[in-house]
Amino acid sequence: MRKAKRIENLPPYLFVEITKKIAEKRARGEEVISFAIGDPDTPTPPHIIEKLCQAAHDPANHRYPESDSMPELRRAIAEWYKKRFDVSLDPDTEVLPLIGAKEGIAHIAFCFIDQGDIALVPDPAYPVYSIGTMLAGGESYYLPLTDENNFLPDFDSVPEDVLKKTKLLWINYPNNPTAAVADLGFFNRTVEFARQHDIGVCHDGPYTEVAFDGYQPVSFLQADGARDVGVEFHSLSKSYNMTGWRIGMVVGNAEMVGALKTLKSNMDSGIPQAIQYAAIEALNGPQDCIQEHNTAYQRRRDLMIDMLNSIGIEARAPKASLYVWAKVPEGYNSVDFATALLEQVGVVVTPGIGYGKSGEGYVRLSLTIPDAGLVKGLSLLAGWRDSKNRFKKKGI
Ligand SMILES: Cc1ncc(COP(=O)(O)O)c(C=O)c1O
Repeated sequence: MRKAKRIENLPPYLFVEITKKIAEKRARGEEVISFAIGDPDTPTPPHIIEKLCQAAHDPANHRYPESDSMPELRRAIAEWYKKRFDVSLDPDTEVLPLIGAKEGIAHIAFCFIDQGDIALVPDPAYPVYSIGTMLAGGESYYLPLTDENNFLPDFDSVPEDVLKKTKLLWINYPNNPTAAVADLGFFNRTVEFARQHDIGVCHDGPYTEVAFDGYQPVSFLQADGARDVGVEFHSLSKSYNMTGWRIGMVVGNAEMVGALKTLKSNMDSGIPQAIQYAAIEALNGPQDCIQEHNTAYQRRRDLMIDMLNSIGIEARAPKASLYVWAKVPEGYNSVDFATALLEQVGVVVTPGIGYGKSGEGYVRLSLTIPDAGLVKGLSLLAGWRDSKNRFKKKGI
C-alpha cells in the first residue's frame, strides 16, 4: 500500500522509540529506571476524580459534546486566567478547550501554514511545533536556544527573506526541554517583533504552574498587546496531574482561536463531558495540590542537581518545568551518552539531539519519578564509569 508522502517523511515520535527500547529491556527481565518522560507520577487529586465519576454516571454526559466544549468550561478557563495572571478573556471568542494541548499545537499549523510558508521554531523544542508545520506543508526555520542566549531566541538573527514567508512563531516558557524561563520583557519584545512582521505568535505554556523557590512564571498574554498578535496554549496535564485525561486549552487572539475552532469542528467532536466537568473542578476547586506537587519536584530537583554536579555533570537548578537539562560528559554526544547509560546501568535519559540540532551536548532528565526510583536511578548514574574511566565521581 502506498502511503502519503507526509507520513513517509515523518520521523518516529521521539518517545515512541524510547518507550520501545525500555519495553525490550524490561521484557528481557532487566530493571530500567526512566527519567525520560515528563508525565506526573502521582495521581490526579481525589476531588477531581470524584467529579469525573459523578459526571460519568449522568447519561447527559454520554452523548456527543459540543466541539467548542461547554460554556461552563470556557468560563472556568477565563476565570482561572483572571485569578492567576490578571488576564481577562472573553469565554466565547478567546477561549477554546482542546483534547490536550498537543492536539491544538499540531492542528493550528493547518489554520495558518500553506505550502511554502514558514514557522519560526525554537531549537531544541517540543517536537510537535515543527511536525505540525511539516504536516501542513510548511517549513520550520529554527531559532537556536543556547546557554549563551539564556535559551531565548534571537529574533534579530532571522533573515529578511525568511521573515517575508513567516506566518507563525513558536515560543515555550517555562521551556521544555531546557527548563529556561522568560520574563515579561522578553514577551513584550516578542509582541513587538510579531507586530512588525505580521506574524502570529503561539506561546506554549503548560509548565507555568510547575515552579520552585517561590518563583511564579508569567503568561505571554500579560505582555502589552499580546492578544493582538497571538495565543497561548495551556494544559491541565502538568498542573493537575491530568495527562491521561487529555484536556488543554488555547486562549488569546480571537481570530486565531476562531480559526482553530473552525478546523476542529470539522475534525473532532470535542472533549468527553465528564472530563470537562473534571477540568472545571480542577480550575475552580482547591489549588493546594499545585504547591504539594511543586514541593516534591523541588526536593527531587535538589537531589538530582547535587548528584549530577557531584559527579562532574554540569546542570543548572531549574526555576520551573519538570526537567533538568544536563551537559553530557566530554567525549560523548547525547545519543552515545544516553545509550551507554541505558545499556550499562539501565537508566533512561532523553538525548538532547532528539529535540533539535542545538540540543546536542545535553540530555534531559525528568523529575516525574517517585522518590525511591529517583534515588536508585541517581545512585546507578553516579556509579557509571565509561571504559576509559573519564567519568569520575567527585566529592561524595
Ligand atoms: C512543551 C509542551 N507542550 C505541550 C505538551 C502537551 O501537553 P498535553 O498533555 O496537554 O497535550 C507537552 C507535554 O509534554 C509539552 O512538554
